Amino acid sequence: MANLCNIDGHISSEADARIPVLDRGFLFGDSIYEVVRTHDGVPLFWAEHWQRLQASAASIAMALDLSEATMANRVKETLTAAAHGDSYVRIVVTRGAGDAPNIDLAYANSAPCWVIMVRPLALATGKPVHLALVDRLRNDRRALDPASKSGNYLNNVLALAEAKALGATDCVMLNADGSVTEASTSNVFARIDGVWCTPPLTAGILAGITRSSLLKFLPQAGERIEERTLNKADLLAAEELFLSSTLRDIGPVTQLNGRVLHPDAEGKPAAGPSTAQLIPTFGEYLTKWRLERDAPHWRGLLG
Ligand SMILES: Cc1ncc(COP(=O)(O)O)c(C=O)c1O
Repeated sequence: MANLCNIDGHISSEADARIPVLDRGFLFGDSIYEVVRTHDGVPLFWAEHWQRLQASAASIAMALDLSEATMANRVKETLTAAAHGDSYVRIVVTRGAGDAPNIDLAYANSAPCWVIMVRPLALATGKPVHLALVDRLRNDRRALDPASKSGNYLNNVLALAEAKALGATDCVMLNADGSVTEASTSNVFARIDGVWCTPPLTAGILAGITRSSLLKFLPQAGERIEERTLNKADLLAAEELFLSSTLRDIGPVTQLNGRVLHPDAEGKPAAGPSTAQLIPTFGEYLTKWRLERDAPHWRGLLG
C-alpha cells in the first residue's frame, strides 16, 4: 500500500521516483498539473480534468504528446498497482529536461515528462475552514493567468503561509483591482442577500471543476447563484461562505479573520445553515454524475 509514482510509464514507489535536475518543471515551474480523485476505481470528472489539462498546455504553448486513452490506461495501471481504494491522483506534465538550465524555450528539446502520483484519498468534505483575507495579491491574469493550472504555485504557497501565520487555515486573495479571487487551492462562494455569489473567471481564478458543477447543481437545489465581482466589504458582510475543490467538495468557512461566523449552541464555529444543507445533497449529485457520466466514459477509454 505504498504511495506510487508513474514516470513516463514506469511505476515505482514515490520515495524512489526521480526527476532529472535539468527538468524544466523543477527548474522553472514550467509544468501543468491536475488533481483527480477516484471513487470505486472511477476518476471523478476525468473528462473535465483532461480537457482542462489540454487548455493549460495550450496556454503555456506546451505540445502534449499522449492521448487521453494512453493516460487513462497509465492511471488505471498505477491505481491497480497501488490498490489503495479511493485514491488521490496527481497528474503532472513538465516541459521535460532541457539541454541547459536556461529559461529560453530553445533549450527545451525533449518530450514532455508525464508523472502520475497515486496516494490514498484524504477527502476533506465538510471540514471547517478558517479563512484569512491576506495582503498578498493573486497573480495578475496578464502576468500568469490563474486559469492556467501550472506547477508554478509560489503565489499560492506564500499567500497560504501568510494566512497560517495569522492563525487561519486558508487564505483568500484579492486581485490588483481589489476584487475577490480565490483561496490557495479552492474557489470561493459567498451568500449575499440569499444569493450564492462566486467571482467571475475575469477576476483571475482557476476555472474549478467543482465550481462549474456547483454552478449547475445549485439552481437544481433551489438556490440562486450568480457569478459576481465581489470586493472585500462584500466578503466581510457575507451571510455564509464556503470553498470548493476536488479534495473538499464544499468546505464551510466557519471563521473569517478570526471572527466566528456561525457559532453553535456552545459558541463554537459551525457551518452556515444553507451550507450545511448543501454538503450532503451535493455529495448525492456527484455520486449520480459519477455513475451516469464518469463511469461509462472511463470504461470506454480503458484498453
Ligand atoms: C488555485 C485553485 N483554485 C481552485 C481550485 C479548485 O479546482 P477544482 O474544483 O477543479 O479542484 C484549485 C484546485 O487545485 C486551485 O489550485
